[in-house]
Amino acid sequence: MSEAAFSLGSLRTIVGDAHVLTDPDVIRPYAHDWTNRWTGHPLAVVRPSTTEQISAVMRACATTNTPVVAQGGNTGLVAGSVPPPRSVLLSTTRLASIDSIDRDARQVTAQAGVTIATLQEHARAAGLDYGVDLGSRDSATIGGTVATNAGGIRVVCRGDTRSQVLGVEAVLADGSVTSHLAGLPKDSAGYDLGGLLVGSEGTLAILTKVRVRLCEPLPESRTTLLVGVASIGKALELLENNRERGLLAAEFMSRSCIELVGEFAQLPDPLAAPWPFYLLLETADSPELPTDADAVLDRRLWAYRERQTDSVSSLGHVHKLDVGVPLHRLAECVAALPGVVTPHQVFVFGHLAEGNLHVEIVGPPYDDDAADVRVLEYVASLGGTISAEHGVGRAKARHLHLSRDAASLAAMRAIKNALDPQGLLNPGAVLP
Ligand code: FAD
Ligand code: MLT
Ligand code: ZN
Repeated sequence: MSEAAFSLGSLRTIVGDAHVLTDPDVIRPYAHDWTNRWTGHPLAVVRPSTTEQISAVMRACATTNTPVVAQGGNTGLVAGSVPPPRSVLLSTTRLASIDSIDRDARQVTAQAGVTIATLQEHARAAGLDYGVDLGSRDSATIGGTVATNAGGIRVVCRGDTRSQVLGVEAVLADGSVTSHLAGLPKDSAGYDLGGLLVGSEGTLAILTKVRVRLCEPLPESRTTLLVGVASIGKALELLENNRERGLLAAEFMSRSCIELVGEFAQLPDPLAAPWPFYLLLETADSPELPTDADAVLDRRLWAYRERQTDSVSSLGHVHKLDVGVPLHRLAECVAALPGVVTPHQVFVFGHLAEGNLHVEIVGPPYDDDAADVRVLEYVASLGGTISAEHGVGRAKARHLHLSRDAASLAAMRAIKNALDPQGLLNPGAVLP
């Protein structure tokens, strides 16, 4: 079949004139990533509102061999939804409806463009909650968090996005629709396609609906405290001592991160004395603390942690890495990082219980990722991963071999070629 010429007209027929955007000023917010490090040049931004429209858009793009990049809230941090030239950016923001809560099964189905904050509100209105929470909740979508298998601040007590997903509906590269939203507690009929699409970053299908489990809300009586600690080792000790205390969160920040957020967000120094590291701990029961701990208790202390991303980004060209290392290698990793990124500066914060470090390198221009590569290679040498929760995107595709062996990469490529033989779905993301 000969390749038809790409036509905006066909897209306008499908979604309506108002939802095919081509004006450079209008599409700019869609075309660059949250860090402003990467900018794309799509042919158009298309905003469908139904699964059927997405299916028709995919079929139209398949006939013209036009790549399609799905985008939710555009809060991704690995350039996953930055559209390459000659592609169509498909925004899911109009897929914003949520079904009523299934209270007995404690489940709900939502369209892919629903934000995490909206999903949380909907669940909380029914006396439940959605398990995943992250600083980008007001913009990040359920479709985007499933596509990246987002983690966040509650993984220690509720698991990551993958463990919330019970089923998906998605449009494949040929426009066909796969739907499995029953949410049955036991269902072992064939391959777990939904599981395969979690973390696939828009390279295997476009998620249109997701069925997730819901959980109990956080206890109102929970204790939130910030503790100063002399080392990562001490922070890990506190973590272990509080696992049986209904641990709800364990977020750590280095001293330079506290100083930076203090300056950026006008927050006072939180403790009596400066400490090398800070642990934000949240427990359902009363926390276990050394008697001489320098600690303060207040739910508002989350600001020191939640404002990290903005604060670091205010420093201009920041190379953001999101790595994971085994807990028993965490202290040596954090100690070694300043040396690994020399002569550049590094800020380190993250999710302690998962050994998930956000390594923010300040100094090198955006097109010089030598320090990034040194960090990723070092983390791989510790048995760690180049992506703990943000995904691979375009930013780390060429480093994927550091975390996946040749056979795994070949199997991934075989799956990609089978489901998307024309290579239309988010080309350049995940697999180099
Ligand atoms: P986008 O950025 O729009 O897209 C992300 C990827 O998913 C792209 O590859 C895109 O192609 C794909 N995609 C999007 N929608 C679909 C769909 N419907 N079907 C198929 N593919 C799709 N991440 C964490 O894991 N933990 C955190 O704690 C966290 N905190 C953050 C805090 C801030 C302030 C910011 C800015 C980001 C944070 N992130 C965090 C990163 C980000 O929010 C997540 O990666 C989130 O999952 C992205 O969701 P999104 O809807 O914005 O997706
Ligand atoms: C976080 O934990 O704050 C996020 O994952 C975002 C970031 O890495 O800046
Ligand atoms: Zn994070």
